[in-house]
Amino acid sequence: MSEAHTISQNPDIRFLGRMLGNVIRHYGGETLYRRTEYIRSASVDRARGLADAESIDPGLDALSLDDTLAFVRGFMLFSMLANLAEDRQGVAAEPGADVAHAVERLRGEGIGDEAIAALLKDALIAPVLTAHPTEVRRKSVIDHRNRIAELMQLRDTGAVETPEGEPVELAIERQIALLWQTRPLRRERLYVADEVETARTYFQDVFLPVLPALYARWERALGERPPSFVRPGSWIGGDRDGNPFVTADSLRLALSRGAETAIAHYLDCLHALGAELSVSSGLADVEPAVIALAEASHDEAAARIDEPYRRAISGIYARLSASFEALTGHAPPRPTRIVADPYSSPEALAADLRVLGRSIGGAGGPLAGPGPLGRLIRAVETFGFHMATLDLRQNSAVHERVVGELLARAGVEAVYAALDEAGRVALLLRELGSARLLSSPFADYSDETRSELEIARAAAEAHARYGPASIRAYIVSMCKSVSDLLEVHILLKEAGLFVPGKPPAIMAVPLFETIADLEAAPFIMRDWFGLPGIVEWARERGRQEVMLGYSDSNKDGGYLTSVWSLYRASEALRDIFAEASVAMQLFHGRGGAVGRGGGSSFAAIRGQPTGTVQGCIRITEQGEVIAAKYGTPESAATNLEAITAATLLASLEPPSLSGSDKARFEDAMAELSRTAFQDYRGLVYETDGFRSFFRQMTPIAEIATLKIGSRPASRTKSDAIEDLRAIPWVFSWAQARVMLPGWYGVGHALAAFGDKALLREMAEAWPFFAPTLGNLEMVLAKSDMGIAARYAGLVEDRQTADAIFGRIRDGWYRTRDILLEVTDQSRLLEKTPGLDTSIRLRMPYVEPLNLLQIELLKRHRAGEADPRIAEGIQLSINAIATALRNSG
Ligand code: PGA
Repeated sequence: MSEAHTISQNPDIRFLGRMLGNVIRHYGGETLYRRTEYIRSASVDRARGLADAESIDPGLDALSLDDTLAFVRGFMLFSMLANLAEDRQGVAAEPGADVAHAVERLRGEGIGDEAIAALLKDALIAPVLTAHPTEVRRKSVIDHRNRIAELMQLRDTGAVETPEGEPVELAIERQIALLWQTRPLRRERLYVADEVETARTYFQDVFLPVLPALYARWERALGERPPSFVRPGSWIGGDRDGNPFVTADSLRLALSRGAETAIAHYLDCLHALGAELSVSSGLADVEPAVIALAEASHDEAAARIDEPYRRAISGIYARLSASFEALTGHAPPRPTRIVADPYSSPEALAADLRVLGRSIGGAGGPLAGPGPLGRLIRAVETFGFHMATLDLRQNSAVHERVVGELLARAGVEAVYAALDEAGRVALLLRELGSARLLSSPFADYSDETRSELEIARAAAEAHARYGPASIRAYIVSMCKSVSDLLEVHILLKEAGLFVPGKPPAIMAVPLFETIADLEAAPFIMRDWFGLPGIVEWARERGRQEVMLGYSDSNKDGGYLTSVWSLYRASEALRDIFAEASVAMQLFHGRGGAVGRGGGSSFAAIRGQPTGTVQGCIRITEQGEVIAAKYGTPESAATNLEAITAATLLASLEPPSLSGSDKARFEDAMAELSRTAFQDYRGLVYETDGFRSFFRQMTPIAEIATLKIGSRPASRTKSDAIEDLRAIPWVFSWAQARVMLPGWYGVGHALAAFGDKALLREMAEAWPFFAPTLGNLEMVLAKSDMGIAARYAGLVEDRQTADAIFGRIRDGWYRTRDILLEVTDQSRLLEKTPGLDTSIRLRMPYVEPLNLLQIELLKRHRAGEADPRIAEGIQLSINAIATALRNSG
């Protein structure tokens, strides 16, 4: 787009905008280019106050349907390129959010290296990729974007040509031209196998090379080799809560593709190591253990006879090739002629590699550092033979039905669902004490039961093939009682993964996700630890995990009550776990949007209550967040540094608040949460007509038609807000620029709170409250009541629409005003200039997209049948989501 009109100070945005302008002009024609430019500069003028804010852009009316589609595509690409440029400038990176700084800071606070080492000994940091459907972009689009990022990096180095001899700037323009001609919308629905494949590429291209390299850096910062404590995980192929397409076959596919990729990578590394480690035993001391490996290798080539490392590597390669073949059923890409036994486990492979490492580094010097061999050992320690630990996840209601059916068919209990909690627990414990199984190959079960049993059996197969690290946790959604957890043990038992008297091979993990369940969580866990064997098994395993759901608690109780309930639950759980002497591991189920727990992971982890992290944290990484954080090796390194640094700080820094301040702040927060809760529930659940207002005002129905995920948009046919999945709820409010889940109720609560000085103090000093307000502020800056009012115009019942929208708009202004007062600012984002510039420069580009979307929604809902209208709506949803970044 034209340089003159691009208001950004970011030179990369200017450069990429100019390239995109060239491409549009060349391939879309001069007229389209000029129209696009006109609309863009008019929006910018309006945003700068140079034109009447209420006037609708006249340029939009002039667009034909074809032009509209092209225009939306152009704006979407501009937003994507602008995001890329910003990411490069490090707008997203927080200062000090890396391990070296964290260690320095801890040392400065008198926290010794021993304390850090002790923490890391049992630490576990796990970003867990999920297939939650909020990524609107096709993989092909993301791949082009990443290629542009690489080329921009090359350009930074001053290179004028790519290694292939193409001028760098031309290569960038070429890539943008390809983007312009790539269809942004999927034609076909997405299958679980596609999701598995996408995740696999992140592991192959990013996690596998990046993590071992990061450890080398961390080793320098820490002054010693830390254990391999980062273990990326995945839900893809294992999370079947509300997704009937995830089956035992999905589980098998996810793990076998992971294994294939991981082991092929190790084989490549070994091949390269074989070339590198040309050390002759005549010129260096070689440990006898290496000689033994060399002798056992069956590599008798005369040319290598004095090269024990190479010979040992031939043997290791042969054994690993045999493992590859045993696990995948086919030969590796580069087979070997040596016949060998497969490794029994990744640990056995790592042990052989360590033998080489000890010998080659034995004399100290440059060969002692973590070179390629050290990186390979890291990779094997981290990714094993399975690549990513895959979690199982199902809804407690399904388990209840399945276990009920098994009990009934076995003649144990006719109507399990009719039992009260005590009756269920007694019955399940009895069953778990007996070695007899409930299921029979001859009984006739429902599809659901058959499928659940098959999943459990596939998990048992996976343990046998890839080892116990392949599946460690079984998440129980909507967990409300200990029987919900015991039901999982019953299913595990049917597959041989639970044997009476022994710890289950897979840990049952409760997911608490409504406000009431978060309040009940500590009591449920106390009861859980009171059951026979549970505490001992958790100690044996090293920890018990609890998962906390951010989105559903937000939908249930509003932003403030959700974050407060999560905080309170974490603290209360910490105390219950301490009483039981069991190490606690929290798993945070959060998405990208603030209404789903989004915002900076660094700040979020640091803001966790004292004593709730202790080196252990798992966090979901979902949808558009995955490409943003892990799209390129550089961004992945930045984000893995940030969560690791935050975990160190949250675990080891002394609390920043005195006990009395903490108590004062918490009392205030409890009151704020109560008021916000009432206000939020009053609007969302107790207002007549709210449901249809929401359905007509936002593109919720149209979002359900996007082909962005394998799972259906809703679990049930009901249109109650309670039954809606949290993702479309948050997503649709973002499109309409209301972003209600990120702020509603907060303004009322803050304004009604008497002691404003106390609120100011909390905003200054409390690591929990400051990011809570910071995220809220970002949401307010991205929402726009002027545009939202136009969406409200889509609602048929005008009277209800005016009344409900009036409440929302008043709430928004109230929230903004009180936020400014409490944070002592005269406008939003005054104190965060980086974010302020980014949002202020970008939001004008969203406005025309919103206006076009509203127009298209009107025509669509009025029954116009032209397929370009539906396509335009979907494109506009994509474009707005891309421009807002964390919308889903
Ligand atoms: P879920 O996730 O619908 O799978 O529970 C909710 C979310 O991540 O927002």
